[in-house]
Amino acid sequence: MIKRPLRLRNSNVMRSMVRENSITLNDLIYPLFVIEGQNKKNPINSMPNMYQFSIDKLLFEIDELINLGINSTLLFGITESKDKVGSNSFDKNGIIQKASREIKKRFPDFYIITDLCFCEYTDHGHCGIIKNNEIDNDLTLQYLKKQALSHVQSGSDLVAPSGMLDGMVRAIREVLDENQYYNTPIMSYSVKYASSFYGPFRDAVDSSPKFGDRKNYQMDPANSYEALKEVSIDIDEGADIVMVKPGMSYLDIIYKIKKKINIPLASYNVSGEYSMVKAAAEKGWINENLVRNELLLSFKRAGSDIIISYFTKDYAKDLKNI
Ligand code: PBG
Repeated sequence: MIKRPLRLRNSNVMRSMVRENSITLNDLIYPLFVIEGQNKKNPINSMPNMYQFSIDKLLFEIDELINLGINSTLLFGITESKDKVGSNSFDKNGIIQKASREIKKRFPDFYIITDLCFCEYTDHGHCGIIKNNEIDNDLTLQYLKKQALSHVQSGSDLVAPSGMLDGMVRAIREVLDENQYYNTPIMSYSVKYASSFYGPFRDAVDSSPKFGDRKNYQMDPANSYEALKEVSIDIDEGADIVMVKPGMSYLDIIYKIKKKINIPLASYNVSGEYSMVKAAAEKGWINENLVRNELLLSFKRAGSDIIISYFTKDYAKDLKNI
């Protein structure tokens, strides 16, 4: 035999030398959930080890994250003051705005990414303004602009629109530039599927639609070429980073897109993917840490530069043997 692939696998040192992919904390973004009130750290039942934090408790959490080497978050706000247009999301004293200001005061270098959407703030739970039982795409863009500007004015370093609206990236770029925020990047949830893997998240933020579903605006899981269209539109509109969501069942999409683009690609290891691993591990059916590492690697191998994952904190602890 001339070719023996096993030669490159016969020691730890050799395996490390030829390893093609690895996960570092620079690749990972950790989502956090913030709520109103004081002294609150409410466990999210459907997502073990994840919590809703009031701002004071959130600051303690971020301190811990920074000590673990985690430098960024994707921040989600949860409010009880919901209305038809999601006013809390663009209110100077909205939950995200208050939280961002406090975080920046204490931890100026901690990178805040804010999710721009309406489903957590509207009483109907849809990702935009409803007219005749449907999302009015263009009207929603006007509100989205207010939301984006308000987030950035409060300290958000990067905005991530997740509503799958047509023209959302262009609208946000326009309003940020008009207000001299030329250097604030946009990470677009360009390819977001109408997925059932978001179930645990919707429990966590109480954002399930009160009527209908999201199939009118999120992508059909049966499609893949359409993902390339979505990405190229967003890049033309000025997206700095594009995202695929969910990740685990959509690695083919990540791979396809990565081959076509020359800007960073993010993927979202969503709540359902996280909770399935946690649940199976709780039952003793899988080794949680090893399965988690394999899962994160698969995102990297497929072509993700950035991974948004609820596993980030566990992973960081593991690296430090905590
Ligand atoms: C919308 C949003 C959702 C998620 C992130 N941003 C929910 C949805 O589209 O229904 C899901 C994230 C997850 O499941 O982990 N604001």
